[in-house]
Amino acid sequence: MINPTKYIKFMKETLKTTAQITAVGGYAPPTVLDNKALEQLVDTSDEWITARTGIKERRILTDKSLATSDMAAFAINDLLRNSGVTGEDIECLILATSTPDYLLAPAAGMACEKSGLKNAWGFDLNSACSGFLYALSVGASLIESGRHKKVIVVGADQMSAIVNYKDRNTCILFGDGAGAVLLEPSDNDMGIKDSIFKTDGSGVKSLAVPAGGSLLPTSKETLDHKRHFVHQDGRTVFKAAIKEMSNTCLEIMRRNELSPQNIQWLIPHQANLRIITSVSKELSFPIEKVKINIQRYGNTTAATIPLCLWDFAADFKPGDNILLTAFGAGFTWGSTYLTWGKLRNSNR
Ligand code: ACO
Repeated sequence: MINPTKYIKFMKETLKTTAQITAVGGYAPPTVLDNKALEQLVDTSDEWITARTGIKERRILTDKSLATSDMAAFAINDLLRNSGVTGEDIECLILATSTPDYLLAPAAGMACEKSGLKNAWGFDLNSACSGFLYALSVGASLIESGRHKKVIVVGADQMSAIVNYKDRNTCILFGDGAGAVLLEPSDNDMGIKDSIFKTDGSGVKSLAVPAGGSLLPTSKETLDHKRHFVHQDGRTVFKAAIKEMSNTCLEIMRRNELSPQNIQWLIPHQANLRIITSVSKELSFPIEKVKINIQRYGNTTAATIPLCLWDFAADFKPGDNILLTAFGAGFTWGSTYLTWGKLRNSNR
């Protein structure tokens, strides 16, 4: 006698479509802002920045006619070139960003227009440094539900637009960039397997751009007090980032029977090298299996994880288990477990 509940559960699991990353793209602006150049702007040193953050340089979007939607479009165009897919084939674009071109009018619409995604609908998702992982999960749901067959997820931020280059506590950390992935249904069960996400709104006290939103609209006072720039209590964010990224990684490993032995790569949000090494220690994860490019880009907020996927794609083999983890303003945080599949136009 078949148990109906068990049968339905079995059928759901058997028939579930998995969303797989089938192409990657990226964009880093050509202008390099290195630590020596920052020494000219604030009271800091290359030694301090390197020792305390691991960052040596970051990329800055200096062309005043360009903004976040342009970086997103450059990353999408790179992805389309790499994959052989045309812009017309894309059904949806989810753009994770905290620095949209305008406060009203989503950057996703402009990115669709600039990259020729003529048939796609698109929207922005603002969850700071966790934005890409959240967007990846939403994009995966659109594939898993059968609603769409081709979804692009982008993480893009122009942090140089909201950083005060007279504040040494923040200006040394951030950079600009964009990374993109294409999600399609998997025919071999590779793809995004599980995610754990959390939010704690009390974190706004420790990391935010205080003015320019509905609570504190732009005024002479907000401008005089530099309230339109990133304000951060670095120590509080530092400790919370290590604790929460580690906790969600451990939880996702436990419930998927994963261990540092059967995970090939850990890709953490790139905010501070000391945070990255502390998380890898908490997980007993060898640092050689942790993907790190913070020394070249700094913290590009929603773009750090897709920039890593783009930078290191050649190292990933089909079947590799990869753990992604992020922490950001909000607070927002979480972890995603995926199995890497074959990329379009790739021999591997
Ligand atoms: N150069 C030289 N000295 C500096 C600098 C600088 N750029 N910045 C701070 N200092 C000084 C401080 O004034 C302080 O001096 P004091 O002891 O005389 O007061 C001293 O260095 C130590 O300051 P701390 O703030 O304790 O330095 P810390 O080691 O914590 O490093 C940092 C600061 C790099 C900001 C770190 O706390 C950090 O990385 N925090 C987390 C950032 C993060 O993860 N953000 C997450 C997401 S971002 C997003 O969502 C947009």
